[in-house]
Amino acid sequence: MVTVALAGATTGFGLTILRTFLHLNTSYTHKLILLTRSPKPELSAKGIDVRPVDYASHEQLVQALNGVHTLLSFIGGSLEGLLDSQLALIEAAKVAEVKRWAPSEYAGNGYEGVDLYQPKAVVWEATQKSGLEYTRFGCGLFMSVLATGTPKPKTEVGEREGAKSGEEEALAGLRPWNFIVNVKAGTADFAGDGSGPTVLTDMRDVATFVWHALSLEKWSPDMGMRGDVKSFREIVQILERVQGRKFLTQDNSFEKLEKDAEDPSKRFYNQARMSLEKGWGMVGDDLNRAFPDVKPTTCEEFIEKWWGGVQLGEPAWEEMKSFSEEDF
Ligand SMILES: NC(=O)c1ccc[n+]([C@@H]2O[C@H](COP(=O)([O-])OP(=O)(O)OC[C@H]3O[C@@H](n4cnc5c(N)ncnc54)[C@H](OP(=O)(O)O)[C@@H]3O)[C@@H](O)[C@H]2O)c1
Repeated sequence: MVTVALAGATTGFGLTILRTFLHLNTSYTHKLILLTRSPKPELSAKGIDVRPVDYASHEQLVQALNGVHTLLSFIGGSLEGLLDSQLALIEAAKVAEVKRWAPSEYAGNGYEGVDLYQPKAVVWEATQKSGLEYTRFGCGLFMSVLATGTPKPKTEVGEREGAKSGEEEALAGLRPWNFIVNVKAGTADFAGDGSGPTVLTDMRDVATFVWHALSLEKWSPDMGMRGDVKSFREIVQILERVQGRKFLTQDNSFEKLEKDAEDPSKRFYNQARMSLEKGWGMVGDDLNRAFPDVKPTTCEEFIEKWWGGVQLGEPAWEEMKSFSEEDF
């Protein structure tokens, strides 16, 4: 058993991690501690050791990390959180003699080409110099993007987690986002010709892999996991089969997307889709090989689950809502 502290696990992806860990921790394999900026009585009521912290206070952080073996960050929401709060965590972890640290990564290989991820690059450098044992968990794109707009009802997982709808269960904390494909409208706006392969992983499978990684004797500096490997063009083929209709698709040259990325409100979306098309999302399969009993959800299964049997009209282009810095 190790004592694991989770930072930034009260919303979004981190909350899905926390919920999945609680579900897997039935025999109390690990002790879970939650670091958060404000008290969370509803989580304390579930028996979680909630430790409110001010990330600007080194002393408070050191105290909150007392006795912690593994520190996992899922901080998001702001550049300040990703940069300042994570750097503060590293400094405190060193003093508190935390053994292992995993920063809030959970994306592709490195940071080149995506401006919004530059704080992650700084934190990664500090991580490598920290003297802590560390890893960078990579999972490619969250498969949840393929559920945006699903009208299907929630399943027993959503019931367990208190989701209000099937879409909320499927998104698992991801903001609804028509990323490259608008699955409900039946359109795909590719980067290039959409044939570049990328890793896509269901967020609950990410949680399961990370859960198993907690018990590894030694962590490698990079630990990738793969739900599935598909190009967006292949994803559209699956969607067309499951939905029984032909998608409207459009190729886009990188020159055009680079131009579009000059608009700050469109920068992240365009940089992210170009990077994925170039192979940025092709993280390794280290954790699949280490834990072959974990059978992650494939794109086919995910799409069948959230779109199988749904009646949809004729495909039609809709205006794309960009996912900008303000939404991050
Ligand atoms: N691969 C993908 O497709 C993909 C997609 C989306 C996100 N991600 C990654 O997943 C991670 C989490 O993203 P998210 O969107 O789930 O995050 P989020 O919901 O926006 O925020 C997560 C937590 O961060 C904490 N936080 C916010 N501002 C903070 C600050 N200034 N200082 C300290 N903590 C702060 C909050 O916890 P408290 O309020 O409890 O302190 C919050 O619950 C990020 O690394 C992101 O890049 C990956």
